[in-house]
Amino acid sequence: MKPEATINDVASLEERYQLATYKKMPIVAARGEGVWIYTNDGERYLDLYGGHAVAGTGHSHSHVVAAIKAQAEQLLFYSNLVYSEPRARAAEKLVSIAPPGLTKAFFCNSGTEANENAMRMARMATGRENVITFSGGFHGRTADSISATFLGKYREIGKPNVPGHFAAEFGNIESVRALADESVAAIMLEPIQSMAGVRTATPDFFRALRELCDERGIVLIYDEVQTGVGRTGSWFFAGSEAGALVVPDVITLAKALGSGIPVGACLVTEKISARIKENDLGTTFGGGMMAMAAVTATLEAIENDAMLANVRATESYLRERLTEVPQIQRVRGLGFLLGLEFNEPAGAIHKALLERRIITGTSSDANVLRLLPPLCLAHSEVDIFIDALRAAQRVPNDSVN
Ligand SMILES: Cc1ncc(COP(=O)(O)O)c(C=O)c1O
Repeated sequence: MKPEATINDVASLEERYQLATYKKMPIVAARGEGVWIYTNDGERYLDLYGGHAVAGTGHSHSHVVAAIKAQAEQLLFYSNLVYSEPRARAAEKLVSIAPPGLTKAFFCNSGTEANENAMRMARMATGRENVITFSGGFHGRTADSISATFLGKYREIGKPNVPGHFAAEFGNIESVRALADESVAAIMLEPIQSMAGVRTATPDFFRALRELCDERGIVLIYDEVQTGVGRTGSWFFAGSEAGALVVPDVITLAKALGSGIPVGACLVTEKISARIKENDLGTTFGGGMMAMAAVTATLEAIENDAMLANVRATESYLRERLTEVPQIQRVRGLGFLLGLEFNEPAGAIHKALLERRIITGTSSDANVLRLLPPLCLAHSEVDIFIDALRAAQRVPNDSVN
């Protein structure tokens, strides 16, 4: 390929040599900085999607890049058969920010793998097999996780499904109670259902789930692959006010945890970790030095740059400015996991924003546009978005207040 390949050069090569997966935007991402993505012909895009919610610290954050570079020069990888300082530091750092009681980390490579291991740990800890998840929840594409996914076509493409998965209605505790018998090892949920269109539940629902799990000896798993690592304005949804301070028995993480270096993790209680013996869990790459350096640096960058406070302040500003767009009926979600519910399908708005060089996300709710920006998004960048949204929606000036 030529050094300055055009979009057509790149697209035709990818389409020729790579299996079709996602419908792609007409962008060749060549470089990134903060909330911006640059193409190789020098255009820039405001990234309010973060590459599927991965760019929590923003693109190529200097602290994370320096840590990865330094680690690469020391040792790229050795497995869990040896001790490693980067692994020890990442585990210590992650546990130090975890909600109380979650005292041990297991590292793997992706969100689906974290969820598979979480369900396996719950089965080991309880001696039971079944798992309750929720309609609208998404947990990944490997066999057990896709079988736990009751959203759209996903379970169907995962056939034959792993047995023992049952769906309750998100937000409806009675529907959970009806399924939660002595065969149930775990209840697993996205505390905010992102792909379903950013669906939330009341604090009472989380409180009731915790009580039900305690009463019936069931392991409560929060899939925080999207909501974790600062996205909601606290380190985790678990233990936050919005979640009634409820702490589950397991939190699963991935996406933003490594700022783009693939890494997943489970955070678990002593009670669960006490049931896990050597060789019950394993992974070649999980806990590798590059990923561990990225985890520590990611968490440090979020702290150093006060990104949690930024998420909270910028969310308020964004919500305020979104009131200027009358086509938005409701803003769902929390922090930087927001669903803008329009009075019409959001696909055309997504396209119109892209033409104005702004990347957003759609969802399985046709009317909802999803925002999952880097945690460093500034007020001035919110202004750029609102201007583009108003232009895309042709909001006349006199409707501004
Ligand atoms: C809530 C949630 N859980 C799990 C996953 C699966 O993560 P991964 O794609 O890293 O396997 C995703 C991916 O989108 C997700 O959004």
